Amino acid sequence: MAEAGQILKKGGLVAFPTETVYGLGGDALNPEASARIYAAKGRPSDNPLIVHIADIKTLYKLTKSVPEKALKLADHFWPGPLTMILPKADIVPRQTTGGLDTVAIRMPSHPTAFELIRSSGICIAAPSANTSGRPSPTSADHVAEDLSGRIDMIIDGGRVEIGLESTIVDLTGEMPMILRPGYVNKAMLEAVIGEVGVDPVILADQEIKGLRPKAPGMKYKHYAPKGDLTIVEGTPDMVAETINHLTASLEAEGYKTAVISSAEHMSAYRTGMVVNVGSREQETQIAANLYDVLRQMDEAQIDYIYSESFAGGSLGSAIMNRLLKAAGHHVMRV
Ligand code: TXA
Ligand code: MG
Repeated sequence: MAEAGQILKKGGLVAFPTETVYGLGGDALNPEASARIYAAKGRPSDNPLIVHIADIKTLYKLTKSVPEKALKLADHFWPGPLTMILPKADIVPRQTTGGLDTVAIRMPSHPTAFELIRSSGICIAAPSANTSGRPSPTSADHVAEDLSGRIDMIIDGGRVEIGLESTIVDLTGEMPMILRPGYVNKAMLEAVIGEVGVDPVILADQEIKGLRPKAPGMKYKHYAPKGDLTIVEGTPDMVAETINHLTASLEAEGYKTAVISSAEHMSAYRTGMVVNVGSREQETQIAANLYDVLRQMDEAQIDYIYSESFAGGSLGSAIMNRLLKAAGHHVMRV
């Protein structure tokens, strides 16, 4: 922990576990450290970073103003998987905020993350510790896969608990807006601060019909495996029948196929690599396993991947947001 603090103070980079995903940390108030983060990830420099803090005083230091609703949310959900967008103070360099006048701030609950921030005294800018475009890392192995040799240290805290990035809420407008769904869902936020909007981009569901998946526009692809991923929606029987038909004919043509299945439906699939993403009874399992499963697809060099849909439930919108992006919004309804 002491060594990690020293690295951060010198402008170096430390990957560390949080309760959501692993973060790639650098000193948020040091523009050179931010530049290093972008370089290590291969991330476009207009995509802003989240600043991680460990006490409320720092929230005031980093922002121009803290509205009542932000305080209420901090009170309820911090430390925890919630990020708030607020007007930035001058002290926060534009390199950290991707040129914006606003700053994203979160207080993580993972003991290692919390202690790293507290003991180093540094506000830690940390995007997810993956190469840009790849699924976020939920274990130290994932971080090493993507960033080994490009950063100064990885703190291995085992597998993360939640497995999907924090909920992002923009508090700079009149109505608070969810910019990224996460573990803290709309209903939970509304129970604390009243009505909350959702960025229409999140709700967009572009459907491309046709049996054979086509590679969608890259701009919609994030968290994406290299293989072609399609979500198949419908009754369990129809989904299994459709997927079995597709995987059988693709395998016959010499392609490698895989199925992302819930625990409940594992036995319904007959062809290809069938992976259990978790039980529908415990959607926290599905959230925690999703990125690891997507990475397994690359490892096994799968060409075509078919996934069940996991809409509904309190984590449904967060899970489907990531899965839809990974699939480039390619959904087949059967
Ligand atoms: O759970 C998490 O939030 C993880 C862990 C490490 O804390 N971090 C994370 O960071 O997911 P990253 O960089 O992968 O995602 C940050 C997201 C990006 O989509 C970025 O565009 C958005 O936050 N963001 C950051 N600052 C923003 C701002 N000022 N306005 C709007 N969006 C912002
Ligand atoms: Mg990320």
